[in-house]
Amino acid sequence: MKRFTAVIVALTALLAASAASRLERRDGVTQLIVDDKPFVILGGELGNSSASCDADIERIFPKLARMNLNTVLVPAYWELTEPEEGRFDFSLTDKVIDEARRNGLRVVFLWFGAWKNSMSCYAPAWFKADSKRFPRARTRSGKPLEIASAFSSEVLEADRRAFGAWLRHVADTDSTGTVVMLQLENEIGMLEDARDHSSLADKEYAKGVPAGLMKHLSANRKALHPSLLKKWTDNGSRKAGAWTEVFGDDIYTDEYFMAWNYGRYVEAMAREARKIVPDMPLYVNAAMNSRGRRPGEYPSAGPLAHLKDIWHAAAPSVDILAPDIYDAGFADWMAQYALPDNTLFVPEVRRGNENGAQAYYILGHHDAIGISPFSIENGSDSPDAPMVKAYGLLARLMPLVTRHAGTDAMDAVLLSADEPERVITDGDTRITLSHYFTLPWDSRATDGSPWPQTGAILMKLAPGEYILAGTGVVAKFENVAERSGKARLGEDGFLNAGSDRRDEGSAATARVGLARVEEVDVAPDGTLSRVRTFNGDETHQGRHARISVDDHKILHINTYNYK
Ligand code: DGJ
Repeated sequence: MKRFTAVIVALTALLAASAASRLERRDGVTQLIVDDKPFVILGGELGNSSASCDADIERIFPKLARMNLNTVLVPAYWELTEPEEGRFDFSLTDKVIDEARRNGLRVVFLWFGAWKNSMSCYAPAWFKADSKRFPRARTRSGKPLEIASAFSSEVLEADRRAFGAWLRHVADTDSTGTVVMLQLENEIGMLEDARDHSSLADKEYAKGVPAGLMKHLSANRKALHPSLLKKWTDNGSRKAGAWTEVFGDDIYTDEYFMAWNYGRYVEAMAREARKIVPDMPLYVNAAMNSRGRRPGEYPSAGPLAHLKDIWHAAAPSVDILAPDIYDAGFADWMAQYALPDNTLFVPEVRRGNENGAQAYYILGHHDAIGISPFSIENGSDSPDAPMVKAYGLLARLMPLVTRHAGTDAMDAVLLSADEPERVITDGDTRITLSHYFTLPWDSRATDGSPWPQTGAILMKLAPGEYILAGTGVVAKFENVAERSGKARLGEDGFLNAGSDRRDEGSAATARVGLARVEEVDVAPDGTLSRVRTFNGDETHQGRHARISVDDHKILHINTYNYK
């Protein structure tokens, strides 16, 4: 009887845990659902070693709550979870869940298993020392690397067993659904060489391109990444053959081979997760292939944008391929990952004052499910810190952001010295969103100080009624109907960013005025309440609405037309 009750308790806990979060596709957009409501991760990832000590967790988590995070991304270390083979210690995981709950935070666990930034440094010492049982990847010249070979079933079994035991413990104990998402491994990728040249790997390579991959490529031909499609067609669009026959004899084909095999490995881990927490969103993260480096110079074969089709084919149980962004060109990287077949989530981004602007941009423009600056515990928790203000704003705005996600009534801009202005059109209304430094009276624009990245979300609530939320932005509203009043911009969308068409209007053209510009707050049900009203100098006597570089605000703007 006792055992029966224990089973029921465990089952209930498991169901509760697995039901607390899931991904849901509605109206062409995928949303993260937590406790049955759409949820956006206003996150931060801990530094790698910051969750290895109870005292650090106790000290850090209250600070994260003060920083307005709603979610913390935390490593789960294989080496500390299974210090001796078969003996598990889940105390750190329990501590993380307890402290998160105590501080009103959700948790995304990062399984630091066989690979962490390519290397196998987080595998337990008993694993590392037994290179006969757990073989290493090798370079072309035969040099063994501190990278467990993805081709070894012993490696996979050991990793999967530990992961499964750990996740079962999480499912049994996290009855309130604190854990909302899982990352499998961390920045997988081959280094020093584009592919593993161990004997196990060579044996696999000799078998040629697997039928499963070829089938996926044929079925998804139209949506393939252009570089993969090109390599395939340049080599005759074969339906089968050796890797070099199908894709050509170069280092990028080696990378395809590795991507498929890393993907298969991760698929096995993902299936283990699905058995335990069927709905839990699962993702893998990638170090970017930037600065003109070649596979093996960058971590080759991770879930990179140009390898997305191979990863999708190999690991269909993984929900999201996610970019870690430490390089310039934020908007370009985002465009590579926000795709019809991939929901955008940024698990790591270099921590900085621009994180708020980046968050506005990816939530409003790409319907991302979240963002998470790295080594978050080292950021400021002052209420005046830019990220703290931005997360505070986004927490309040979340009901409106999630309601408008996937619709044409929401867009966003990211502004900088390189791109100080973007135009969004709403029918006949052209809304020019400019960087705040473009205002003639802001001397910082010309005194040599660097232009910060700024950004804002624009939502249309009703005709002539908008929400502008963000930092460092000036919004000007104009009517761009032709003199006849017939022509429209933005035919392909309600709001439509990027147009730079100009029209100075004429005497016969109705002009747009600002009826009211209010700073507002947003209640959990989306209701707006006025905080203060801006007019006079603050709107340049009715010419524009604006939010200064140092502020993060939600403005409710009502416009009218006049002739
Ligand atoms: C990316 C990794 O995924 C993180 O764990 C960490 O090592 C950072 N790089 C450090 O910059």
